[in-house]
Amino acid sequence: MAGTAWLHWLRDDAQIPLMRLLAALPDAERRECESLASPARQRGFALSRCMLRNLLHHHRQCAPGDIRFSRAENGRLQLAKNFSATGLQISLSHTDGMTAVICADAPCGVDIETVRERRALAIARRYFTASEIAWLEAQPATSRTDGFLRLWTLKEAGIKALGRGIAGNLDRLEVVFTEGVPEGRGDLAGLSLWQTAGPDYWLAAVVADSRTTFVATELALSDLFPS
Ligand SMILES: CC(C)(COP(=O)(O)OP(=O)(O)OC[C@H]1O[C@@H](n2cnc3c(N)ncnc32)[C@H](O)[C@@H]1OP(=O)(O)O)[C@@H](O)C(=O)NCCC(=O)NCCS
Repeated sequence: MAGTAWLHWLRDDAQIPLMRLLAALPDAERRECESLASPARQRGFALSRCMLRNLLHHHRQCAPGDIRFSRAENGRLQLAKNFSATGLQISLSHTDGMTAVICADAPCGVDIETVRERRALAIARRYFTASEIAWLEAQPATSRTDGFLRLWTLKEAGIKALGRGIAGNLDRLEVVFTEGVPEGRGDLAGLSLWQTAGPDYWLAAVVADSRTTFVATELALSDLFPS
């Protein structure tokens, strides 16, 4: 049976003070969050947890106050024991004021990246597969940053779904585009890939289940914290 993956993302417009985000977290999570060095990192951490609770509440009927997270040995955030027994899987990503979360019934990964100048071809030539490099080289120079981010977000979401780290794994997962639709090859073969873009970001999700339907919603901060 095809499963559904639920995905939420938002832009942090900073309308909600960090103190209010922190106050929404259980004690242990708040302490972990406060130990992070930068306020931006703290906002991403707190928001991602608030978004996951909201997502699991709305789509999986979990009571937000009961939800606890733990961390796998490889750093992956997961649901604590009582919830993980349901088979529910989660992933999150935060960068430059954007945050994305996903939940599914199979291992999943999400990645969001904002568009800024990168040494796209140089990085791709070092870490991507030969066919990905050829695809990127064939893009007009003005589209290379976007092309790079299309590949990067899908590959990073795939790495998270597979529970790996970036080191030594980027060229084991391959993405090909057929009429613009991404498909996984190599270790990504048979997984479900999904992608969208905003004015200044790329967002991708991967679920380790070949027939996943993605239901994706962009939220506003005020959806989570109504005044
Ligand atoms: C996972 C990874 C790809 C994320 O990269 P990123 O671009 O820095 O960050 P993102 O915001 O997109 O994602 C971060 C989130 O991914 C999750 N995450 C971390 N490690 C993960 C892993 N191995 N698999 C899946 N998810 C992971 C965490 O929830 C983290 O957020 P949190 O710290 O707030 O809980 C990268 O950190 C990585 O390669 N980590 C693994 C390092 C490793 O292999 N260590 C082994 C020890 S030698």
